[in-house]
Amino acid sequence: MKDFKNSVVYQIYPKSFYDSNGDGFGDLRGVTKKLDYLKELGVDYIWLTPFYVSPQNDNGYDVADYRNIDPAYGTMEDFDELVKAAKRCDIEIMLDMVFNHTSSEHKWFKKALDGDEKYKKYYIFREEKDGKEPTNWISKFGGSTWEKVENSNEYYLHLFDKTQPDLNWENDEVQNEIFDIVNFWIDKGVKGFRLDVINLISKPEVMVDDETGDGRKYYTDGPRIHEYLKKLNNETFGKNEEIITVGEMSSTSIDHCIRYSNPSENELSMVFSFHHLKIDYKDGQKWSLMDFDFMSLKSILDQWQKGMQSGNGWNALFWCNHDQPRIVSRIGNDQKYHKESAKMLATSMHLLRGTPYIYQGEEIGMPNPKFDSIEDYRDVESLNYYKILKENGVPEREILAILKSKSRDNSRTPMQWNDSIHAGFTIGTPWISTGKDYEQINVEKSLVDEDSVFHHYKKLIKLRKEFDIISKGTYDSLLLNHEQIFAYTRKLGNQMLLVVNNFYGEDTLFKLPEDIAIGEYNKQVLISNYNDSSQDLTEFTLRPYESICYLLEKNVRI
Ligand code: NOJ
Repeated sequence: MKDFKNSVVYQIYPKSFYDSNGDGFGDLRGVTKKLDYLKELGVDYIWLTPFYVSPQNDNGYDVADYRNIDPAYGTMEDFDELVKAAKRCDIEIMLDMVFNHTSSEHKWFKKALDGDEKYKKYYIFREEKDGKEPTNWISKFGGSTWEKVENSNEYYLHLFDKTQPDLNWENDEVQNEIFDIVNFWIDKGVKGFRLDVINLISKPEVMVDDETGDGRKYYTDGPRIHEYLKKLNNETFGKNEEIITVGEMSSTSIDHCIRYSNPSENELSMVFSFHHLKIDYKDGQKWSLMDFDFMSLKSILDQWQKGMQSGNGWNALFWCNHDQPRIVSRIGNDQKYHKESAKMLATSMHLLRGTPYIYQGEEIGMPNPKFDSIEDYRDVESLNYYKILKENGVPEREILAILKSKSRDNSRTPMQWNDSIHAGFTIGTPWISTGKDYEQINVEKSLVDEDSVFHHYKKLIKLRKEFDIISKGTYDSLLLNHEQIFAYTRKLGNQMLLVVNNFYGEDTLFKLPEDIAIGEYNKQVLISNYNDSSQDLTEFTLRPYESICYLLEKNVRI
């Protein structure tokens, strides 16, 4: 049985991973074909984003049938074959479950709109207020969270797009439907679940205007959330200790996340939180341009590390996913220091306390595609905001610059397998254009180059298996006020890891704080992104994006 604390999860966005039949759209057989590559990398789980029947308005996060595979991705036989083939590679499957909302094409919602009382109670309908929306809440994808039902004075709630109506978890029948769906997939051999925006499922009974914000304070970590998660756990995955779970937590708090992931609460194994990725939002607004704020990045990572540790919670560690721009373009330098910064970012994240997640292409340092035209974009959120920013009078050039840096499509371009046309992703026409640098940055090249970003990730995974201190050690911060270095220690028994990362393209001086009694330890470099890193720990110059992890052992004679 795998221990999730000692595991690494690889996230696959199947639509952009590998197209096995030339229709331009990645599919499940495409994933099966690439399992050897993932085995070579050494990951334990693959998390597949939704491939269920869906109109694909939000690329599958709008589910129309939870128990069937969308034909664009293949068949149930393809899925069963993938589970079997993955097991042969010692890789388990983690599925993405979207239970905050369904697609408006789901039969439940269609029946609800037809006036079927049973199914109306599956969703959240409210009467209009003074001829307007029931509340002033703003949807995550722009506009009101309420959509008017034609020829009626009712609205339905959608925290995301209007094609994603929110489910009513207050209704036991909805809960039971959901438990059955999870158990259906457990019976198919699935060993992990990622739960989409799961901390938004509990809405207040009485919904009122938000005078100071967009409404999120009323439904984020909502009134019955812990009760719902305990029940979900108890009725489904909690019965099988082999199954791991990760909850995607929108705008959450450390206190709630401790409760979500502390084993004694019987809710989830771990959580994704996003505060550390809002460090380039000007005044908290995603659709703006701003350099990342290093000091707040450090302070957020540090608070979450210490907070979760003190409450025995568990973090999912990540820089990238299908909603985030590529980290090497966002925080690193995807030109002059491409390799150095991609490796530094990997080390700085993987050696924290938690379970690391790698998003497809991150392990070869895939950068943002730098699209120039609105025609290149496919994402519903990006297209909605393009319209909204236009309506607000923002000039086209500025909007395109914002999308280039912030759009979710930055991470959704085809996986770069080799330097042939469309990066070897498809022999057809890809559903979204390929990034421009695939001739230089691709899997084929990375595998043969011993010094590649890929080999660095592979080494980090291997180290996790060899040194318990990486999964079990306690975390402590170092040099919190340093304006260029993110450094920390991990401790277990007579061992200590010292992890030092330069987040900038200029040299900087590292000085070990005096309270760390280095003299008593023997030391070795476990991993670095320069092949001649300093052996003198007390004071040394870190080169651009240099990153080093030392293992120090007390009272051990070499
Ligand atoms: C979070 C998912 O990661 C994102 O891709 C999706 O659009 C929203 N949840 C809505 O399901």
